Amino acid sequence: MQLISGSSKYGIKKAARALKSGHLVAFPTETVYGLGGDATNQSAVERIFQVKSRPRDHPIIVHISSIEQAAYWVAEFPSYALTLAEQFWPGPMTLIFKRSEIAKDFLTGKQEFVGLRIPSNLIALDLLSEFEKMGGMGVAAPSANKFGAVSPTTALAVKEELGNLLCAQDIILNGGASLIGIESTIIKLEEGKSVILRPGAITEKMINKISKVISIQSSNNRDFRVSGSFGSHYAPKTRVFLNLVPQTGDGMIADSKIETPHGVIRLCSPETVEDYARDLYASFRLGDKLKVNRIIAFPPKGNGLAIAIRDRIERSSSIT
Ligand code: TXA
Ligand code: MG
Repeated sequence: MQLISGSSKYGIKKAARALKSGHLVAFPTETVYGLGGDATNQSAVERIFQVKSRPRDHPIIVHISSIEQAAYWVAEFPSYALTLAEQFWPGPMTLIFKRSEIAKDFLTGKQEFVGLRIPSNLIALDLLSEFEKMGGMGVAAPSANKFGAVSPTTALAVKEELGNLLCAQDIILNGGASLIGIESTIIKLEEGKSVILRPGAITEKMINKISKVISIQSSNNRDFRVSGSFGSHYAPKTRVFLNLVPQTGDGMIADSKIETPHGVIRLCSPETVEDYARDLYASFRLGDKLKVNRIIAFPPKGNGLAIAIRDRIERSSSIT
């Protein structure tokens, strides 16, 4: 595995060539780092599943550099989807479409739908357009972590998480820390109305202006405390608990206004919800590294991005 800088033309070209030859490239996006492979190359996509130990029926998002490129991947591009795309792409939004025939079963987990995203991170966009110039159609990229674990927001976190599972020709493209820090909003469109499959930085309010949101599938509207209600996800190795009084040796994640009790290890002190989203996964990783007894998180209140943050924290604390 080679760790190279994404800020040089040389690095981008090298990474695009690696993708074109069927190797894997982990790359920065504004949400989290992705583990990319040529979305039309079955063996490259197979390796993504293998490296992540991800169940084969979990579809992978295809990353492209422009709306024009989407035309190859979708059977139809309804006008309301186009309005959302024009408004929020490039950006932290994934749209689910009826697939075209280039979106094969090995990519979509045999579903008739394909997820597409144009990220706004400039290194990601450079990589995607360079790959497309070489004849590539799109880059399949789940978050660059083991299945169920915390998404990486830095190149170093990718290296720690997957470095020993990547081959000599695979690349990690370094682009610094992800700006947003939690995964994209996933939207499925049903007859002009939006179903949010995963909340993110493109919020219900923003989407509602274009296409009415009829449901949000987040942990916020489930009873996450019920053991076995659904699998834990986005989870560090250390157990995560919500809103408990932290004890000596525990790690704590909370808004900067909340004080740290004596003997408790503060993992982050975000001042805004944006800070909270950006720092959350690094704090989970820090908790593991410092071997704190438990991670006690005080989730942010309110709507917008806070909904997405609560969704991730609640899932990370659920019991499988
Ligand atoms: O921000 C993000 O979306 C990041 C960056 C790398 O782009 N990617 C990401 O991918 O979070 P992943 O695979 O870790 O999570 C994508 C989620 C999965 O839960 C998957 O099941 C769902 O999106 N998904 C992908 N394609 C889908 C489809 N066709 N229908 C329904 N769900 C889909
Ligand atoms: Mg993921």
